[in-house]
Amino acid sequence: MIKKLLGALALSLTCTVAVAEGAFPLDNAPNRLNDMAALQTGAKLFVNDCLNCHSASLMRYNKLTDLGLTDDEIKKNLLFTGTKVGDLMTTAMQPEDAKAWFGTEPPDLSVIARAKGIDYIYTYLRSFYRDTAQSTGWNNLVFPKVAMPNPLWQLEGPRAMRRVTVAESKTPAGKEQWVRTTANYDNQGYSTINTEVLKDYQGAAVDQVTFSGVSNAQRAAFDNDAADIANFLQWMSEPDQQFRKEMGAWVVLFLLVLLVLAWRLNAAYWKDVK
Ligand code: HEC
Repeated sequence: MIKKLLGALALSLTCTVAVAEGAFPLDNAPNRLNDMAALQTGAKLFVNDCLNCHSASLMRYNKLTDLGLTDDEIKKNLLFTGTKVGDLMTTAMQPEDAKAWFGTEPPDLSVIARAKGIDYIYTYLRSFYRDTAQSTGWNNLVFPKVAMPNPLWQLEGPRAMRRVTVAESKTPAGKEQWVRTTANYDNQGYSTINTEVLKDYQGAAVDQVTFSGVSNAQRAAFDNDAADIANFLQWMSEPDQQFRKEMGAWVVLFLLVLLVLAWRLNAAYWKDVK
């Protein structure tokens, strides 16, 4: 019995390690949670490029006034016809249609940043590449074979991707070997993939991705937009976090004052007893 339990424990440990190793490394998202202009840009991009498939059903449009937008600005720039400022951010896409088109339903994004982390979202949005082997024509380094096509492809511009990995694998006979895989995807998604067994390899595992195609300036502008969207999603997952943090500081201060008062009162009360 104990042996079985230990075996199960060992198995679950090796699984976690494998998952951690296989995960694509995440970039750190810049923190713009106090930058109203960035959050407003993020909100606009989100409403225009994400809400056609996703909902954010815990969020009302008029909550965006917290970001410094007026009701009029929200109406003019962010509302689709027939939507009111007080409405929830729902999507026009029917779940059955989504299933038929993508094979799965796009998740509600209200609290996705809390579930996945802002770094994940930032890296995910910047890791799409064209891949003709996928039914949508798109693939993603962070979420391989994802059912979501790149929503920002026009902002991002055409680019090619080259990925070189060196990883340990097993031969059919069960022997360990190191294999280098070089995958080139052009900006149409056509790929050439070469694998090569490395004899006597002494190095470590390698995972190198190079994008090419658009200029550095366009790339930087795109990264900037992705950062604004990621920050907006983070804000949306907890729109009152700034208020809560400030409130927390006041509460602690209040308790400290109370503590000092209680201490002085206690001293005054027992003063004549000794
Ligand atoms: C054309 C429809 C479509 C658009 C537009 C779209 N998505 Fe998606 N999204 C999907 C689908 C479908 C999935 C589910 C993917 C899967 O499970 O394979 C998804 C999944 C996600 C996920 C979850 C990924 C994960 O790891 O589980 C995030 C985050 C996300 N989308 C963010 C966005 C953002 C941000 C935008 C706007 C910039 C956006 N999406 C625009 C269809 C879309």
